[in-house]
Amino acid sequence: MDKRIEELKATVRADAERIEKELDAYLTSKDNDIDLLFETQRYATLDGGKRIRPFLVNEFCRLFGGSEETSMAYACAIEMIHNYSLIHDDLPCMDDDDLRRGRPSTHKAFGYATALLAGDALLTRAFGIIAENDKASAEQNAKAVALLAAAAGDYGMIGGQVLDLQGETEELDMEMLLKVQAMKTGALMECSARLGALAAGFDTDTKESETAGLYARKIGLAFQVIDDILDIEGDQVELGKNIRSDAEHNKTTFMTYYTAEEARVFAAELTAEAVSAIAGIEGSETLTDLAAYLVQRTA
Ligand code: IPE
Ligand code: IPE
Ligand code: MG
Ligand code: MG
Ligand code: MG
Repeated sequence: MDKRIEELKATVRADAERIEKELDAYLTSKDNDIDLLFETQRYATLDGGKRIRPFLVNEFCRLFGGSEETSMAYACAIEMIHNYSLIHDDLPCMDDDDLRRGRPSTHKAFGYATALLAGDALLTRAFGIIAENDKASAEQNAKAVALLAAAAGDYGMIGGQVLDLQGETEELDMEMLLKVQAMKTGALMECSARLGALAAGFDTDTKESETAGLYARKIGLAFQVIDDILDIEGDQVELGKNIRSDAEHNKTTFMTYYTAEEARVFAAELTAEAVSAIAGIEGSETLTDLAAYLVQRTA
């Protein structure tokens, strides 16, 4: 299994390098007067990050017979949204974290206002990139915009972030916590997988899109379970972000209800459910290995 995980990591890294190149091109300034805005976005976006969400986009597209040419714009768009969410998540008004990907958080490096605006720019650009994707049809792009807007907005990531902050002043019960984590983290993961299916020609109401969505919802929740464990048990240097941040904010997380051992059992159950969602699909081994890698990650 370890050999398979090593191969999987190499596959993700190779995909990440191709994504990095595209992001680099998107984030090259065409107006010197706003170079600072681009420098800030580049700082927050390039050279770091596991690139799990864009990997899901490209891999589901491949799994369902599509080409990476078509999915790459969607992959970049979701990674931009993710990076914007991290800039804002670290701000003093939110998690107030000064370390991200082993470096000062964007607001620590560029100041609060510039960081906030760089996040806004990434969010805005993501939708532009999808709309201009000339490797997919106009209809596919419109559907991709709708998917991303739903996942990133009120009923998805942003709604989840609002409830996550409420979980600092009141203890959320388990049912609510599951909802919050699914919204703040699961929604973008599910969107990534469904964008991949869409790029391969499968609309949101198809069996393929449903399967992709189910797999990604499960690994998304497992991902947040592990993230919550690592906040307590992780190594700050390896993780590249502040540990004990959740505890310091008295935030309701999975660690409010579970010991690390129980949380790992829960994450393993979710992973098994994710794997069974894609079992039997030819070529799904990479996604099976991805699910296994994500629960055993230490960073
Ligand atoms: C961190 O996401 C935020 C969560 C949803 C837990 P990642 O762990 O995917 O962050 P990067 O992109 O690899 O830095
Ligand atoms: C972040 O969750 C989810 C987002 C939508 C950004 P966390 O606040 O737990 O992520 P980290 O631990 O700061 O990366
Ligand atoms: Mg947070
Ligand atoms: Mg945070
Ligand atoms: Mg966290």
